[in-house]
Amino acid sequence: MSDETTLYRTATRTHTCGELRAADEGGDVVLCGWVDRRRDQGGILFVDLRDRYGRVQIVVSVDDSPEAHATSEGLSLEDVVRVEGRVRLRPEGTRNPKLGTGDVEVVVKGISILGKSDPIPFEVSATASSEVGLETRLRHRVVDLRRPLVQERFLIRHKVTSACRRALERHDFVDIETPTLTRSTPEGARDFVVPNRRQPGTFYALPQSPQLFKQLLMVAGFDRYFQVVKCFRDEDMRADRQPEFTQLDMEMAFVEAQDVQNVVEDLLADVFRATRGVEIERPFRRLPYAEAMSRYGSDKPDLRFGLEIQEVSAIVARSGFGVFTGTIERGGIVGAIRIEGGAKQFTRKDLDKLPEVVKDAGAKGVAWAKVEAGPAEAPDEGGKITGPLNKHVTGEVRKELLEAVGAGTGDLVLFIADQTSTAQNALGVLRNHLGEKLELIDPDALAFCWVVDFPLFEVFEDDDGQPQHAPMHHPFTMPVDEDIPLLAEERWSTLENKGVIRAKAYDVVLNGMELGGGSIRIHDRELQARIFSLLGISDELAEDKFGFLLRAFRYGAPPHGGIALGIDRLVQLVLKLKSIQDVIAFPKTHGGSCLLTGAPAEIDGTQLTELALKIQAPPAREKEA
Ligand code: AMO
Ligand code: AMP
Repeated sequence: MSDETTLYRTATRTHTCGELRAADEGGDVVLCGWVDRRRDQGGILFVDLRDRYGRVQIVVSVDDSPEAHATSEGLSLEDVVRVEGRVRLRPEGTRNPKLGTGDVEVVVKGISILGKSDPIPFEVSATASSEVGLETRLRHRVVDLRRPLVQERFLIRHKVTSACRRALERHDFVDIETPTLTRSTPEGARDFVVPNRRQPGTFYALPQSPQLFKQLLMVAGFDRYFQVVKCFRDEDMRADRQPEFTQLDMEMAFVEAQDVQNVVEDLLADVFRATRGVEIERPFRRLPYAEAMSRYGSDKPDLRFGLEIQEVSAIVARSGFGVFTGTIERGGIVGAIRIEGGAKQFTRKDLDKLPEVVKDAGAKGVAWAKVEAGPAEAPDEGGKITGPLNKHVTGEVRKELLEAVGAGTGDLVLFIADQTSTAQNALGVLRNHLGEKLELIDPDALAFCWVVDFPLFEVFEDDDGQPQHAPMHHPFTMPVDEDIPLLAEERWSTLENKGVIRAKAYDVVLNGMELGGGSIRIHDRELQARIFSLLGISDELAEDKFGFLLRAFRYGAPPHGGIALGIDRLVQLVLKLKSIQDVIAFPKTHGGSCLLTGAPAEIDGTQLTELALKIQAPPAREKEA
């Protein structure tokens, strides 16, 4: 029954506000929608009626239909109305080619108001020009969601999840739900917890991800699982983070990393075809973590532009520049970024601002050299430069340095010296800043890559300056085969840098954003126990927290692996939006509040008593951002 033309016909309407065309001339129609605009021309009222499908002009004249005209005079913007009328061609010269329905209008015979609107906090119409502040939009999210531009984003979001589901069904994945009231799943953030009335003093944790359940489903033999699922993480908010967000979570049995990656590439190709109408290039580039860090200073490199980092430690170690030689003597490195033609582009003032850019990344400064003449033009001095290096980096060393970074006349070279990871991170921040400032980024470009071979352990210093390690991904991640022997006690105990052990972990990155992360898992009880022990998780603690997983492994566990993509981030990238809040229907503010419902809120005394909870002196509330 539901072919295109009758699909939207209901007991209340015959057509949507977006579908009438010249061919419908003369037809009797019933339309429902919101009053988008209203123009009174004395005796004739023009009203634009809007719904999800579009906008159409209706005409109410006092001569044709005095009663309808009287009702229409009382219309306010955003009233919901039902109109009965006849389609006619708009008079020549009044047609609107920008509007799908712009060739026609509906002459109204009868009109009724189905839902009256109070004065609206801001205009909804696509024709409204005023900018509305985020706080106002979130407070009145329902009105905001009605705006065609905003509504379009959620229709696209639907297309994204729908394309994901279809692609996974094609690959024979099964959609299975996992619990939301559960135990802690470690993904590196704090848990949100839910007090339990039945056993006061006990708490459920909301899942940071369905990680453990999906592994159980593999042991249970489902072979391929997926779920579009809410995850909860109590962590600091950013433009690409929310406390609750949606993952496209998946897991496969009898696979290697390549298999998971193929499915994801196939799925992303569908998503971008369905939403942007483009074919993405496959296979994606593979970039080992170590290479991503040394060349781009980031484990989520933006590959839409060049400006690669080059390490020049070995050369500048022979210079007289104390900033560099001192750092190298302390085990650090010096990295450089060459900007072609940068000497003229960057004023002294611009250069003085750069240390501020990298300050948060921990860098102590940015040294620079403007190349007035390349080594070829000024061979006697090894090139002419200005800047802090000029006096200290001379002759042969200068020549080698400029040649190594490929710097010629007119170029600018920037340097950061520090301990390896600080220097790399800071150079990565600097690189992204330069990419934007120099407008090297094509906003339409889609630069995907897989970052692979992540370290199994992240190494950091504790408060006493002692080296510590924690899982880089999560404690269920499989080490790379060749590196497993390093975990044996005799090798481990003498291993100076625990960061060298690689994991079968991979992230999919798009335009400098981490879209998803996954790994091949440990399915062997012994190895899993060893990893727990290396992480300082005792047998008792492991049993208490993850006993259900370890026990499941006793009953025949297949090798398995998977990934989770951040759906919100994916939609954000599809739509080229700056903030994740724009793609979540009811998002939280940076302070974690929902301005619409007022959550989080206090609970009343009875509830507290039932839960056996007592609020200590309430700490000072953070002010809402
Ligand atoms: P991971 O922690 O990398 O992996 O999360 C997967 C993806 O989820 C998205 N994401 C977020 N999006 C919005 N707000 C947040 N606070 C947030 N946190 C994460 C990111 C990220 O890449 N269980 C593993 C997956 C696996 O190993 O299969 C996991 O959760 O896009
Ligand atoms: P000076 O202190 O005059 O010898 O010059 C130091 C120059 O090196 C300044 O341009 C600083 O911004 C820069 N600088 C200082 N510390 C570092 C560092 N760790 N890496 C790179 N440049 C630095």
